[in-house]
Amino acid sequence: MLADIVVGLQHGDEAKGKVTHHLCRSGEYTHVLRFNGGGNAGHTIYHEGRKFVTHYIPAGVFYGIKSIIGSGCVLNVQHFFDELKELKAAGIDTSLVKIAKNCHIITDDHLNEDRGDEKIGTTKRGTGPAYRNKYNRTGIRARQVLTLGPYLVDLYDEFYSSPDTKVLCEGAQGFGLDVDWGDYPYVTSSHCTSASALLNGIPPNAVRHVWGVGKMYDTYVGKKTFQPDDDIFNKLRELGEEYGATTGRPRQCNWLDLSALNKSIQINGVTHVVLNKADVMKSLGVWKLNHNDKLKVFSSQREMCNYVTANIQKTSGGCTPEIIFSGDKHSINSYME
Ligand code: IMP
Ligand code: MG
Repeated sequence: MLADIVVGLQHGDEAKGKVTHHLCRSGEYTHVLRFNGGGNAGHTIYHEGRKFVTHYIPAGVFYGIKSIIGSGCVLNVQHFFDELKELKAAGIDTSLVKIAKNCHIITDDHLNEDRGDEKIGTTKRGTGPAYRNKYNRTGIRARQVLTLGPYLVDLYDEFYSSPDTKVLCEGAQGFGLDVDWGDYPYVTSSHCTSASALLNGIPPNAVRHVWGVGKMYDTYVGKKTFQPDDDIFNKLRELGEEYGATTGRPRQCNWLDLSALNKSIQINGVTHVVLNKADVMKSLGVWKLNHNDKLKVFSSQREMCNYVTANIQKTSGGCTPEIIFSGDKHSINSYME
């Protein structure tokens, strides 16, 4: 078996969906696996010039690759069928969409409870309550839901019945929202690191590449104050169209935090970094980042990119990850003037 993993290095919304979609084009994967989170995720994908927002179904669906909602996810049945219908109506073949039979269910009670959240600023999709019941051993699994019958798979049978299995593992949210590594309690209720992919039946020694996805600046959605008091960040939000794909909420913006990015690169064992939205920084015409609690100011994109490249952490084994600075909604092509 071979597995590549796509993870978020910041607070979600780094355009992981775009990277997964791009990697699927190689045609080498037998499966694409969503490995954590629920309908809180909103993956914006441009497929053949059309814009799609998915919450559950992995990007493999656009390429006729078996696309599985994994055991690490939580799923709202009604929202799943709505999404399936939407994709079908757009002419996408959904016949290879599957659900791990041990994936947990988000119930109406979970949704109602989460709608009352005022402390964290959740996406109100019932994610936290569903994970709580899972770990409390009072949850409902997908296999108990009759209407899901035709979609269910056993991840062991899926991955281990052929030696040629190649899985692209697609994460949701990001390192800064991870329940252990994020700024608790301003986090989501699942694990958002590469380790989380392994919990879905992927053995560690199958992992080949870990694609860490970030942006040239940082964003966060939720109750804590994240955006500094400076109008430039409002401008950045407009230029970057930084509004939640799931809830439409404005995302708080800040400069790239290179120290946090390095920590995330190391803990995720990232082999390839994609830093998106270089085009947005260019439109802003200001290049700044925070590193070791100091604000660094650059006069051009190239200068900022050179600084990032020179200061990116080596991961275990002394490997320096490859970095792509991207500025295109449709591909991960390098963007450098
Ligand atoms: P929950 O995951 O809905 O419980 O929300 C917990 C925190 O994670 C809140 O600050 C949400 O805004 C944030 N969050 C959850 N999913 C996403 C996502 O896909 N992108 C960005 N923020 C998210
Ligand atoms: Mg998103």
